[in-house]
Amino acid sequence: MADGTQNGIPQRVLALRSMFSKNRTHRELDERFRYLLDRRRTELEAGVIAEARCIALIGASGSGKTTAAEHLFASQPDLVLHDPHGPRLDVASFQVPSPATLKFVGQTVLETLGFELKRDKSAQIIWSMAKGHLEARRTLFLHIDEAQDLMRHQTPRELNAVVSTLKSLLQHKSWPVGLILTGTAELKTLINHDPQLARRVYPIEFARLNILLDSDRILNAITRYADAAGIAVSADILNPEIAARLANAADREFGLMIEMIIASLEDAMKASAEGLSRAHFTSMFRKRTGCVDGLNVFIADDFERIDVRRLLDDGEDT
Ligand SMILES: Nc1ncnc2c1ncn2[C@@H]1O[C@H](COP(=O)(O)OP(=O)(O)O)[C@@H](O)[C@H]1O
Ligand SMILES: [Mg+2]
Repeated sequence: MADGTQNGIPQRVLALRSMFSKNRTHRELDERFRYLLDRRRTELEAGVIAEARCIALIGASGSGKTTAAEHLFASQPDLVLHDPHGPRLDVASFQVPSPATLKFVGQTVLETLGFELKRDKSAQIIWSMAKGHLEARRTLFLHIDEAQDLMRHQTPRELNAVVSTLKSLLQHKSWPVGLILTGTAELKTLINHDPQLARRVYPIEFARLNILLDSDRILNAITRYADAAGIAVSADILNPEIAARLANAADREFGLMIEMIIASLEDAMKASAEGLSRAHFTSMFRKRTGCVDGLNVFIADDFERIDVRRLLDDGEDT
C-alpha cells in the first residue's frame, strides 16, 4: 500500500487539536469565574438580588481567548450550555456581529437565546426583550467574544449607549446578568471609557510567553504533544534555543505556539519521519507565512528581530 503511511493522519491531528493545555491564565480565569458563579447561586438561593460582575479576558489574536472561554464553560460540571431551546441556558455565548450597532448586537443576543425577531424593532425594544429572555432562560452569564468590536466605528454617543447597555445588564433590577468579555487590548479602552463600568470589571490579561522563564514549559509542551502523537522528539530540539525560536515564531502567544507544535508534528507525520526535528518546524513556519529563509525564525541567526506578527498576518491573508 503506497499511501499506507498517510493513514489516520487527519484523525491523529484532530486528536491533538482537541487536547487542552492549561497555563496560569486559565487557572486565574477558572478561579474568578467559579467565585462569581458560586456567589450568584448563593444569592439566588437566598432570594437576594445583587449587582452582577464582569470578567474581561484580554489577549492578542492567537493567545487563546476563545478556546479558554469555551473550555471554561464546558469544564464546569453543573452548567447548562448550548441548548438554545431548552428551559435553561446558564451561559449564552456569542461573537460581536458586524456592523456592531446596538440594535444588531441586541438581535444577536436574542438569536443566541433561541428567539428570532419577526419584525423590525428599535434598539431599545430589542434590548428590553433580550433582558426579558435572559431572565426567562435564567441565564447567569453572557459571554461576548471579540468584545473590542463593540467600540469599532462608534460615535462617542453610540459608545456611551453601548457602555450603559452593558452596565444595565449587570445592574438589572430583577435579573442581573454577569458578563464575560473576551477581546484584544482595545477592550481596555472600552472598559475604561466609564469608571462605573471599570470598577465592576475584573481584568485578566492573557500571559504572553516569556522566552527565558517559559523555556521549560515550551519544551514540555513539545514533548507532551509529540507523545500524544506517538512521535519521538529528536535530540536537536529539546534545548532553550528552539524554545526561544518557537516562542518568537508564535509572537509569544500561547495558542499560536500550540498550533505551531501541532502543525510541525503533522509535517513529521506526513514525511513519515523517524522523529520530530528542527526541519519540521522550519517547514511549518515557511508554509504558514510563505516567508523566505532569511525571515524564517527557525533559520535566521537574528530571529528575534523578525516582525513575526506581520508575517503571520500576511500569511493568513493569502
Ligand atoms: N489552552 C489551549 N490548549 C490547546 N490549544 C489551544 C489552547 N488555547 C488556544 N489553543 C489553540 O490556539 C489557537 C488560537 O486560539 P484561539 O482561542 O482561537 O485564540 P484567540 O481567540 O485569542 O484568537 C487555536 O488553534 C487553538 O486551538
Ligand atoms: Mg478568538
